[in-house]
Amino acid sequence: MRKKHRIAILTGGGDCPGINAVIRSVAKKAILEHGMEIIGIKDGYEGIINDSHRSLDFDDVSGIITLGGTILGTSNTANPYRYASKSGGKTEFHDLSRSAIANIESLKIDCLVCIGGDGTLNIANKLFRDGVPVIGVPKTIDNDLRGTDITFGFDSAVSIATEGIDRLHTTAQSHHRAMIVEVMGRSAGWIALHSGVASGGDVIIIPEIPYDIEMVVKRVKERSKKHKRFTIIVIAEGSKPQGGHVVVQRVLKGTPEPVRLGGIGFALGTEIEKLSGIDTRTVVLGHLQRSGVPTPFDRVLATRLGCKAVEMIINKRFGYMAGVRGKSLNEVPLKEVAKGPRNIPTDEPLIQAARAVGTCFGDLLCLA
Ligand code: F6P
Repeated sequence: MRKKHRIAILTGGGDCPGINAVIRSVAKKAILEHGMEIIGIKDGYEGIINDSHRSLDFDDVSGIITLGGTILGTSNTANPYRYASKSGGKTEFHDLSRSAIANIESLKIDCLVCIGGDGTLNIANKLFRDGVPVIGVPKTIDNDLRGTDITFGFDSAVSIATEGIDRLHTTAQSHHRAMIVEVMGRSAGWIALHSGVASGGDVIIIPEIPYDIEMVVKRVKERSKKHKRFTIIVIAEGSKPQGGHVVVQRVLKGTPEPVRLGGIGFALGTEIEKLSGIDTRTVVLGHLQRSGVPTPFDRVLATRLGCKAVEMIINKRFGYMAGVRGKSLNEVPLKEVAKGPRNIPTDEPLIQAARAVGTCFGDLLCLA
C-alpha cells in the first residue's frame, strides 16, 4: 500500500490578509486530491524550535478564506539559526538549528510549506540547504519579494490605504491643509505608489526616489494658491530626503530584521509647515494596512498559490517558491528570493503614468 503523505504548514514573519486562504488551499487540495495528513506549526519558527504544532483536518480549514491574520499564529522574531534569548539583561544568540531540524524530522513529514516574506524564506532556504524538504509561498503586504511579480496581501494593503487616503480628502479640503499619509512597505515604495496613484495623491514619496524638500514645498504652495487649496502627500515609511536618512522607529535586537521604520511623515510635516507656513497634519496608517479581511484578488491569488504549492510537493520541487510571472505561476529557487528585497525599478511604468498626470515625486522631474 502507498504510504500516506504528511506535510506541515508554517506561517512566519508579519501576518497579512490572505494567509488563511493559502493554508485552506494547501490543506484542502492536499486532503481532497492526495489524501495527505496536514500538520500546522504554531507561531512560525517558534513552533519548530519548541516542537509546538497541531493536526489540521478538513473542518479546521473550512470557512477561513475571508479571515485575516493566520490561524496558526506567527512570529517575526524566531530564527532557529540565531535564536535570541535574554540573560542578565543581555541578549544572547544561539544556533538551535540542529534541534529544530530534529524536531522537523520527528514529524515524519514529506514537506514543510513555509508561507512568508524574505526573512521567513531566507530561513526556509537554510533549512533546505540543511536537508529539509521545503517549499515556499510568497507573503507580504510590502510586495518586495524577488522572483514574483506580486505577493498576496499587497492588494489588501493597497485597498485599505487607498480607502484611508480617499477619506482624508474631505478633511484636508475643508481646512485647506497639507495632509501627509505615511504607509508601510519597509525599504520599498510599492504600497505608497499604488495607493497614491489610486487615490489621486498630489505628491507620492517613495524610498526609491529620495525627495527634495524644496520641490515638495513648491507643490504644496502652488496648490494652496490655486482653487484646490489642499495637498495630499503619500509617503512610504522607508523614504528619505536627498542627502538624508530614513527614520528608524525602533530596533528589535536579536530578530531576523531588527529595524522598524516609521516617523518620516512627521519629519516631513514639520518641514513643510516651517517652510510654507501651511497648516499640515500627518496620519500614520500603520498596522491597519495588515488587518482585516483579504480582498477578493488576494483570496484568489492565495488559492492559486496554495494549489501550486501542492503540485510542487507532488513533483518534489523542494527548495523552490511558488511565484507569479504575468498571468502564470512559476517556480523560483529560494536562494534567488533570499538575495534581498525587490524595489521599484526607476523605469516602472506606473511612475511614468503618475508623472504624466501631474503627480509630483518630490524630485526635479516634478511637472507643473
Ligand atoms: O513587512 C510587513 C510590515 O508590515 C512592514 O511594512 C513594516 O515595516 C513591518 O512589517 C512592521 O513590523 P512589525 O509588525 O514588527 O511592527
